[in-house]
Formats: sequence, structure tokens, C-alpha cells
Amino acid sequence: MRTSNCWKIMLAVLSLLICLQSTGCSEITRHEVMSTIFDGVPSYPPPEQFCREYLEKAELAQNGEKPAADTKKLMSRHAPYEEKKCDDCHDKTKENGLVVGKSQLCSMCHDDFIKGSFVHGPVAVGECLACHEPHTSQYQSLLKTNKDQACSVCHQEKRLSAAMHDKVSQRKVNCVDCHNPHYGNSLYFID
Ligand code: HEC
Ligand code: HEC
Ligand code: HEC
Ligand code: HEC
Ligand code: HEC
Repeated sequence: MRTSNCWKIMLAVLSLLICLQSTGCSEITRHEVMSTIFDGVPSYPPPEQFCREYLEKAELAQNGEKPAADTKKLMSRHAPYEEKKCDDCHDKTKENGLVVGKSQLCSMCHDDFIKGSFVHGPVAVGECLACHEPHTSQYQSLLKTNKDQACSVCHQEKRLSAAMHDKVSQRKVNCVDCHNPHYGNSLYFID
């Protein structure tokens, strides 16, 4: 009885060691082994989610692309969040749970952000969170959506210069290839 238990543990430890050596999503296997040996290992999110980043990297590698450079394109992470400076923004004692109001939060660090005489509506009122996530994003620049869709979330109205805009959208040019999303020195932030 005791010896068979002992063997079980040795086997588990052995497979744990093997798991720790292998790469990729071995965390899942490692977690299973850990759960076998010790109780109380917290459960992980579903593997699809857990492995997403890994799979994305693998896919890029398969397409012959360099994962290191491309992960940045797929995923952006806010420096203060990564550095666990949660208290720079969060304060449990405040009613909204943040150190200041949402519309003042971003300009605490991104001060002197506006550098043009014309300012985009949501930027002018500190609505950075209309377009950006505060922590991480699967899109570049902490955007809430793909760069192509960042503007159409709000701008559904017909363009005055519709002919020109129809032509560019057919060519799949991004709005931000011409317009600055934040500010500019011309009426429509084209500079
Ligand atoms: C740059 C400022 C900033 C930093 C740094 C930051 N947060 Fe947040 N966090 C926010 C904002 C703003 C919201 C509210 C988002 C909303 O309501 O749209 C939020 C929301 C949250 C929420 C609510 C659920 C959610 O995800 O929306 C949790 C939990 C949270 N933050 C945890 C953390 C933790 C933990 C850290 C540190 C590792 C952290 N935050 C760092 C700005 C920040
Ligand atoms: C505690 C300081 C701090 C606060 C508050 C803060 N940021 Fe940042 N943010 C940084 C730092 C540091 C960087 C990285 C250096 C840089 O690009 O300036 C950064 C970078 C960014 C980037 C560029 C990310 C990239 O991948 O290129 C965006 C977008 C951004 N912040 C948006 C916001 C928004 C939106 C808010 C408000 C919710 C906010 N920040 C509040 C410190 C802060
Ligand atoms: C209307 C949507 C929108 C709003 C509102 C907005 N941004 Fe952005 N932001 C963008 C887009 C789109 C990009 C990516 C631009 C690109 O790739 O050319 C970006 C990029 C950034 C970057 C990284 C590169 C750069 O241009 O400096 C920072 C930092 C940033 N935003 C901060 C902010 C802050 C701070 C606010 C609020 C004062 C804000 N943004 C409000 C859409 C927005
Ligand atoms: C959160 C909603 C929102 C998003 C997202 C948004 N805008 Fe706007 N935009 C506004 C508001 C509000 C105004 C000011 C009202 C107006 O003039 O139509 C405005 C005005 C403008 C104007 C000036 C129009 C004029 O007639 O003066 C331009 C150009 C513009 N936005 C471009 C963009 C681009 C490019 C993007 C994507 C990066 C974008 N917007 C994303 C809300 C938004
Ligand atoms: C090839 C460059 C280019 C691209 C791409 C582009 N625009 Fe424009 N946009 C302009 C120019 C130039 C004007 C000024 C037109 C004028 O003065 O008649 C303008 C004007 C505007 C205006 C204000 C006047 C109007 O026509 O309603 C808005 C809002 C606008 N653009 C939003 C967008 C959005 C949203 C996108 C993406 C779907 C986009 N633009 C893509 C060049 C561009």
C-alpha cells in the first residue's frame, strides 16, 4: 500500500520534471500534474484562452513571421499595468475606485498630450477610454478595436467629402493614415 503510493508520487514527480522541460502550452500538463500531487492548486481558465498567446505565436512562426516583433502588433500592454503600479490609477477608498475621475486619469501621466490647435471631440473632453483600454489589448496601442474600426464606432454619418472617402475605403486605407486620432493643426487633423 505505502510502496504503491510512493511509486505514484515518484511517477508524478518524474512527469512533472519532463513537463517542465517541454515548451509551449506545457503549463496545462504541468498544472494537471501539480493538481495530482498537491491539492489546492487554483484552477486555470479554459485552455483555448490560456494558450491563445502561444497559438498566435505558433501561427506566426508557421507563416514564417518572427513572433517577437509580431506579438507587439497583436497585443499591447500598458506600462504601468505591466509594472503592477495599480495604485497609480486605483484607489479603493474613492467612490469610482480610481484616484481621480475617468476623464482626468490619463492626463495625469500623458500630460501636455494635446499638441495642436484643433482637438478631436472625445480627446478634448478626456474620453480616452472611448478608444483605449486601460490595461491590455489584443490590438495595437491599447485600442479597443482593430485600427480599421476605431473611427466607425462613432462616425456613421455620411461624409461631406463622400466621394473621396468612398474611394479611400475601397483601397483599404486606414482613417488614421490621413487623420490624427487626437489633434492637429488643421480642421480635420490632417497634418
Ligand atoms: C493607467 C491606469 C490603470 C492602471 C495602472 C491599472 N488600472 Fe485597472 N482600471 C483602470 C480603469 C480606468 C478601469 C475602468 C475601466 C472602465 O470602466 O472602462 C480599470 C478597471 C479595473 C478593474 C475592473 C474590471 C475591469 O477589468 O474592467 C480591475 C479589477 C482592475 N482595473 C484591476 C487592476 C489591477 C490589478 C492593476 C494593476 C496590475 C490595474 N488595474 C492597473 C485603470 C488602470
Ligand atoms: C501612471 C502613469 C500613466 C497613466 C495614469 C496612464 N498612462 Fe498610458 N502610458 C504610461 C507609460 C509610462 C506609457 C509607456 C511610455 C509611453 O509610451 O509614453 C504609456 C503608454 C500608453 C499608450 C501607448 C501604448 C502602446 O502600446 O503604444 C497608450 C495608448 C496609453 N498609454 C493610454 C493611456 C490611457 C487611455 C490612460 C488612461 C486610462 C493612460 N494611458 C493613463 C503611463 C500612464
Ligand atoms: C477617437 C479614438 C481615440 C481617442 C478618443 C484617443 N485615442 Fe489615443 N489613439 C487612437 C488611435 C487610433 C491610435 C493609434 C494611432 C496610429 O497607430 O496611428 C492611438 C494612439 C495613442 C497613443 C500611442 C501613440 C501616439 O499616437 O502617441 C497614445 C499614447 C494615446 N493614443 C493616448 C491617448 C490619450 C492619453 C487619450 C485621451 C486624452 C487618447 N489617446 C484618446 C485613438 C484614440
Ligand atoms: C467616441 C466617439 C468617436 C470616435 C471613436 C471617433 N470620433 Fe471623431 N468625432 C467625435 C465627436 C464627438 C466629434 C465632434 C463632433 C463633430 O464635429 O462631428 C468628432 C469629430 C471628428 C472630426 C472633425 C469633424 C468636423 O466636422 O469638424 C474628424 C475629422 C474626426 N472626428 C475623425 C475621427 C477619426 C479619424 C476617428 C478614428 C481615429 C474618429 N474620429 C473616432 C467622436 C468620435
Ligand atoms: C486619404 C486620406 C483620408 C482618409 C484615409 C480618410 N480621410 Fe477623412 N478626410 C480627408 C480629407 C482630405 C478631409 C477634408 C475634406 C474636405 O476638406 O473636403 C477629410 C474630412 C473628414 C471629416 C470631416 C468632413 C467630412 O467629410 O465629413 C471626417 C469626419 C472624416 N474625414 C473622417 C474620416 C474617417 C472616419 C475615415 C476612415 C473611415 C477617414 N476620414 C479617412 C482625408 C482622408
